[in-house]
Amino acid sequence: MFEKFGLEFRVFTKDLEAATPSGNPFEDIDHLIVRLDQMARNDDLQEKLCAAGWDLVVFDEAHKLAAHFFGSKLEKTGRFKLAEKLGAHSRVYLPPTSDAMAVATAASPTWRPDLEFFQQALGFRVGNYGITKWSELFTQRQLMAMTTLCDLVAEARGRIRRDAMTAELGDDETNLESGGTAATAYAEAVSVYLGMATSRWADFCNTICSWNEQNQNIRVLFARQAIPMSWDFAELSPFSSVGPWFSVVESIVAALPATAPNNIPGRASQENASTQTLSRNKTVSTDPPYFDNIGYADLSDFFYVWLRKSLHSILPSLLATTAVPKSEELVATPARHGSKERAEKFFLDGMTKAMASLADQAHPAGPITIYYAFKQSDTDSESGTASSGCETFLEAVSRASLQLSGTWPMGS
Ligand SMILES: C[S@@+](CC[C@H](N)C(=O)[O-])C[C@H]1O[C@@H](n2cnc3c(N)ncnc32)[C@H](O)[C@@H]1O
Repeated sequence: MFEKFGLEFRVFTKDLEAATPSGNPFEDIDHLIVRLDQMARNDDLQEKLCAAGWDLVVFDEAHKLAAHFFGSKLEKTGRFKLAEKLGAHSRVYLPPTSDAMAVATAASPTWRPDLEFFQQALGFRVGNYGITKWSELFTQRQLMAMTTLCDLVAEARGRIRRDAMTAELGDDETNLESGGTAATAYAEAVSVYLGMATSRWADFCNTICSWNEQNQNIRVLFARQAIPMSWDFAELSPFSSVGPWFSVVESIVAALPATAPNNIPGRASQENASTQTLSRNKTVSTDPPYFDNIGYADLSDFFYVWLRKSLHSILPSLLATTAVPKSEELVATPARHGSKERAEKFFLDGMTKAMASLADQAHPAGPITIYYAFKQSDTDSESGTASSGCETFLEAVSRASLQLSGTWPMGS
């Protein structure tokens, strides 16, 4: 250990233990080597190890921490119990066995999202490394887990419908998209949430995820609205104790009561802000896109491909297209429009139309509230520091003949 890593270790002996000032060698000595069986057979020594603060325990030849089934009874060796005891104090990391490697490489998914993404989308770094399709952001095993979860959404739907019938919800076989409320629509509604959980799970289950050493858990892809490159990815089991798939379902269940407070139903529909008529005679509060900060449409395909896989049969109109619409998105993406200037013009023209449409249609009794977040700024020696995104947006507001009655800074 000294030659390879420059770490000086001492070998545990009874005499060494007796000579340590506190009586606990694991507390007093930084680097110790102990015979595994000596630890496994000595409860007092195990207590001392558990009581001491340590960073890392390395088991040499971890496959010898064995447990076996005799009939239906599980027999654990002393070494196995030792590892369990230490595992309760910290996470156990094991090198993969050849069996585990064979399982990983044998995975062969029946489906994969072989849709190409736009390589120069805002915040996309993976295209620079030869990755061209969504499916290439997942290992075979992750693709298999994702497709299996998507298929299970359909299987669950049948069971939910049967349960709803047993609970005497009745059924008129009207689908959710057609406005149904009985067992068929109920089963579809629950499946929509399960499909959302599955597509959300993709954030935990791809090759951009890395290991967060500090918190000892997975670092998901979307730490921010971008797709960075990462080389040292960590692969999570959907059933592991770290961010299991079911915790995603639970977070959706926890959010549900807030989505319809006092049972007042909300309604969502998708319209182009430049041409919509939804806001006629309404009070409007809007959060428009921020110039070139985030490429929502390109990013959302990461989730959409999975949503579509699990929910297309339930929401065929909503999920009709293979990817989300891009051309009408009011975002200044230089690579999509050919140059920075053309992207800026596209944003200004579209945003002016969107703001003019709001000005024309909104109910005159109240003001329109607009949230506009911007971080980016450009600095040059002549004009100082300015934010072209914010300026272009304000120009669109003024061209639309909206009158500013006040602006407030907001922290979020
Ligand atoms: C700043 S985000 C809104 C975020 C939202 N308030 C939230 O908390 O999730 C701007 C949104 O405008 C949408 N958008 C972009 N172009 C649009 C257009 N032409 N018509 C309607 N919506 C558009 C984007 O897809 C994005 O969802």
